Amino acid sequence: MKLNIALLAGDGIGPEVIDQAVKVSDAIAKKFNHEITWRPALTGAAAIDAVGEPYPDSTHEICASSDAVLFGAIGHPRFDNDPSAKVRPEQGLLKMRKKLGLFANVRPTFTFPSLLDKSPLKRERIEGTDLVFLRELTGGIYFGEKGRRDDGETAFDNCVYTRAEVIRLAKKGFELAMTRSKKLCCVDKANVLETSRLWRETVQAMEKDYPEVEVSYEFVDAVAMRLVQWPNSYDVLITENLFGDILTDEASVISGSMGLMPSASLGADIGLFEPIHGSYPQATGLNIANPMATVLSAAMMFENFGLQAEGKAIRDAVNSALEKGIVTEDLSDGAKSYGTKEVGDWLAANI
Ligand code: IPM
Ligand code: MN
Repeated sequence: MKLNIALLAGDGIGPEVIDQAVKVSDAIAKKFNHEITWRPALTGAAAIDAVGEPYPDSTHEICASSDAVLFGAIGHPRFDNDPSAKVRPEQGLLKMRKKLGLFANVRPTFTFPSLLDKSPLKRERIEGTDLVFLRELTGGIYFGEKGRRDDGETAFDNCVYTRAEVIRLAKKGFELAMTRSKKLCCVDKANVLETSRLWRETVQAMEKDYPEVEVSYEFVDAVAMRLVQWPNSYDVLITENLFGDILTDEASVISGSMGLMPSASLGADIGLFEPIHGSYPQATGLNIANPMATVLSAAMMFENFGLQAEGKAIRDAVNSALEKGIVTEDLSDGAKSYGTKEVGDWLAANI
């Protein structure tokens, strides 16, 4: 297969972890006879520095004309502590999601047999955990009207959803549930929020089209609790943008390190693949960041092209690296650890 992949390394540790995913993907291309053309483009603080905006049109053109986007991380501390900054790296990510129509964010949480004791939760609580969040990504409070009242003392962010937005996300959730254990949990706050009542009512009406799927409805606060009590009781969860942002960070550490969890953002056409973690500014350039989440995001990319064996080859390499202790310091527990680049080299050599 010939693949054109837009490569958006972004900020912080983004470039370092992306380099490893490229190395591993090139090894896959060699082994399985594919031809990958990487198309680098600017985004985030790096793009603000270069051209004054975090998702320039030139980057959008490259993304929109590629088969997929592989993305590193976005964000820089100099913006975090300056609430008055008008242009922020994160705006680039939001604009990109919106312009590319990436409305469904697929965020799995799974455990690795060799890491069960690395989790902040007890082994017996997490054994067998294999769940997937489908987070709505282009609506809700992230994209509603926001601002300040004239008095300057009152700020607002509106949360808006249309039925059509809920249907297209929920449809992906039902379809995913059908390929797994046929359990779907709709996460909302329908006891308080009108948007949540729209979600619940819409999903309830869709149940008849998927008679085999067992649907449960749970409030977001209860899910936050049950995720640390019985994560293995969940399978597919669907939720709105902000709830999904928060819960997927919570869920991502169950595996033992946030540096392990990949994600995909899907829409009508192209997909974007990125690690769940952020730009980890303190680690920038130190060769200590865990590249596995980005490498596993590349696995999701291949699988999304229907290339299951390629995805599995990457997952197998990651599993054996974990078993053999070829890991970065977040997973080494004070024992010998490897650098970002060394882990990437090992994975590429073991494809
Ligand atoms: C994420 C990030 C983004 C989000 C930020 C960087 C805008 O936290 O992808 O989860 O909140 O969606
Ligand atoms: Mn987040």
